[in-house]
Amino acid sequence: METFNVSSLARPLSRTEQYVTRSYTILAISGSLRARSSNTEILRAVAAVAPPNVTVTLYDGLAELPHFNPDLDQPGAIAPETVTRLRALVGAADAVLISSPEYAHGVPGSLKNALDWLVSGSEIPYKPVGLLNVSSRSKHAHASLDETLRTMSTVLVPDASITVPLDGRRLSADAIAAASEFADPLRAVVRALIRAVDISGRPAWEVGVS
Ligand SMILES: Cc1cc2nc3c(=O)[nH]c(=O)nc-3n(C[C@H](O)[C@H](O)[C@H](O)COP(=O)(O)O)c2cc1C
Repeated sequence: METFNVSSLARPLSRTEQYVTRSYTILAISGSLRARSSNTEILRAVAAVAPPNVTVTLYDGLAELPHFNPDLDQPGAIAPETVTRLRALVGAADAVLISSPEYAHGVPGSLKNALDWLVSGSEIPYKPVGLLNVSSRSKHAHASLDETLRTMSTVLVPDASITVPLDGRRLSADAIAAASEFADPLRAVVRALIRAVDISGRPAWEVGVS
């Protein structure tokens, strides 16, 4: 008969045990609204290669967000429902992973708009964030996103902020996930985000450890 050592079950889980036993959620945000977007496909590929205890949810509300208006962001103001949903999704996620194209050396307006809606809230500060780039020639948008996300007090995770040079190849998520040259770095991105979550000092009751 299998026996359990009660004292060993009662002790807090080590970091390794937490990684194996607890589940994590990553909110993936693509900066492109294009139907066959490479940035969206790579985030779908991340979902495909993530281990079973990591759920990657692709945010689908970018196009529905109204233009940011500080008048709707005052204490006491009622935020639009789409904004409330975005904030709730970010708040519920352990980490956020953004993949964005560059437009005219800048961040796509729709993505910057979403970030602007998150500036004053409590959902994104101190949250681990990764930043993917699918184009080796795009530099400006990611430098700008880096600056914006630091200003928003997120924890930018260097090992989760990489360029995966799809470089205009129109690959599906399945094809990206099947190619080790892309899938392996994406698995490493997930591991880096999870590590950042684990060391972010969330209280034991919140991570399900008693
Ligand atoms: C209006 C527009 C402007 C662009 N400007 C740049 C740019 O300044 N620098 C760059 O590297 N790529 C630029 N691109 C190329 C896109 O960043 C590239 O096609 C991207 O991979 C598209 O991402 P998606 O497949 O996720 O839609 C531009 C594309 C468009 C449509």
